Parts: sequence; structure tokens; C-alpha cells
Amino acid sequence: MAAEIISGTEMARTIRAEVGEEVARMKEGGARVPGLATVLVGEDPASRAYVSMKNRAAEEVGILSRQIDLPASISHEELLGWVEGLNADPEVDGILVQLPLPEQVMEAQILESIHPYKDVDGFHPVNVGRLLSGTPDVLIPCTPQGIIELLVRSGHDPSGRHVVMVGRSNIVGKPMISLLLGRGRGGDATVTVAHSRTRDLAEVTRMGEILIVAVGRPGFVTAEMVRPGAVVIDVGVNRVDDPSSEKGYRLVGDVDFEGVSRVASAMTPVPGGVGPMTIAMLLSNTVSAAKTGAGGFGG
Ligand code: GUN
Repeated sequence: MAAEIISGTEMARTIRAEVGEEVARMKEGGARVPGLATVLVGEDPASRAYVSMKNRAAEEVGILSRQIDLPASISHEELLGWVEGLNADPEVDGILVQLPLPEQVMEAQILESIHPYKDVDGFHPVNVGRLLSGTPDVLIPCTPQGIIELLVRSGHDPSGRHVVMVGRSNIVGKPMISLLLGRGRGGDATVTVAHSRTRDLAEVTRMGEILIVAVGRPGFVTAEMVRPGAVVIDVGVNRVDDPSSEKGYRLVGDVDFEGVSRVASAMTPVPGGVGPMTIAMLLSNTVSAAKTGAGGFGG
């Protein structure tokens, strides 16, 4: 039987509506409208597309959004100056610096320069540490948080189940395992992590009742690597050449959709799976940040 398709597009619509209602309630209560600032450095078309989707989604739910476009030649100090300005701006509750950044910029230092209360990506070491230690008042990275919502809301709660995470990035793999290991909603899982150096990878991935894949390689996970009946979450977004499409390319995930859909019991599509959930969680984080109220910290 073909796998059930878990639609991130539909679920994200529900979450965006919930966030929109929350923003409306805040306004009615006399609070300031939450504000999100996105920073885009350079001209990478994929990054530009992601950032404009984030800003559009923010505006749709009533969040004030501002996009700052900076040249790829910007110096590290200049970019730090921009972040400091946003830290001090009382209208900005959330700051997102789109990654990757150009070589001359020290990414880790830029991420550390964002005030932890405005760090809607959840990449600041304070938030990373709080997530790992289970401390409340943490901003959680959007993609792993979106995956937890996808699993729980679609009836595939990871609690007590064996989850195999393929990939160990700071953006997805590491925060994902922190959430899965944590106590309470969306957590309490048994977790195995695999990556590019894992031996006998297929043997490891076949253990997963839930298999989450974030490796950035089109069609990397094939049917033989999946335990029959598993729930498969595909985080990959890869552009592959397709002369028959208008743009000359199409988007595919890290999972061979055709083959795996015959083995898995449920899986996310690409596009329309994890991607829309990432954006929905960014909006939710921006509202949380506004409530925490760092406001004009540093100003
Ligand atoms: N680049 C790819 N994914 C992300 C993300 O979630 N946040 C930021 N800031 N940059 C990214």
C-alpha cells in the first residue's frame, strides 16, 4: 500500500492561522505589533527566495516585517553593526540572518551577536544550551520544531519510539536530537544519529520507526534503507536540472519518493512537507519573542 502523505502545506496553514489570531489578540490588548527583521547578504537566488517567502508569510499574519539586503562584499564589522542596530531597535522582536554567509564573515560570531531573546532562528549558543538542558524560555530552531509539530499533529508522536536522524548539522540534526530526547510533548524518543561517516548506514536507517533525513543529497535514501511501515520525514530541498520545467529545474528531497512511498507507512513530500512548517515556526517564534519582550535591548 502507498504511504500516507503528511502535508506540511496544510498543517502550516493551520499554524499560520493560529499565529494570526494570536497577533490579532495582542493588537486588541493594546500591545505593539510583533516585528521581524530578516538580513540577506549577497545574491544567492535560493536564499533570496527563502527570505522573501519568510517576509511575505510574516506580513500575512500581521507581523511587521523588514528585509535588509546587504552586498556580498560586506565586511564582518559592518554586518555586526547592522545586527547591533537591530538588537537596539524597539520595533524589532525577531532577527534572522539568512545562512550561508560569505567567507569573510565569521558566521559563529554573527550568530552570537544577535540578542538571545531576538534570536528567532534559535542558533545563539544561549538558546542551543537552553534547548539541550531543557530550560524554558528558549527559542527553538524552526525546522526541527516544525518537524516535531508535523509528527505530533499527524498522529506519529515520537514518544517511546526509535527515531533515526540522518544528518548532524547545527540547523537541523543537532537541535532535532535535542528535541527528540527532551521530556514531554514531541520528545521522550529513543534516538540514533547517523551521518556521512556512519558505517553500514542502511543497517542503521532500517532501525528507525521514524526516519528523519537532512543530508542535502537528492534521492539519497532509497527503499532498501527504510524499515517497512516507518514514518519518513524528508528535510532535503535540492534543485535538479529539468529542461521540461519552466525554470529549468525542479525541487526534490533527500529521499527517493517513488521507491520509499511503497515501503513507508507515512512520509512528507518535497516540496510541501517540512519547508512550509519551517516558515510557520518562524512566525510562531517571532510572536514568542515579542511576548518575552527584549524590545530595545542594548539601545
Ligand atoms: N539557511 C538554511 N536554513 C536556514 C534557517 O533555518 N535559518 C537561516 N537563518 N538560514 C538558513
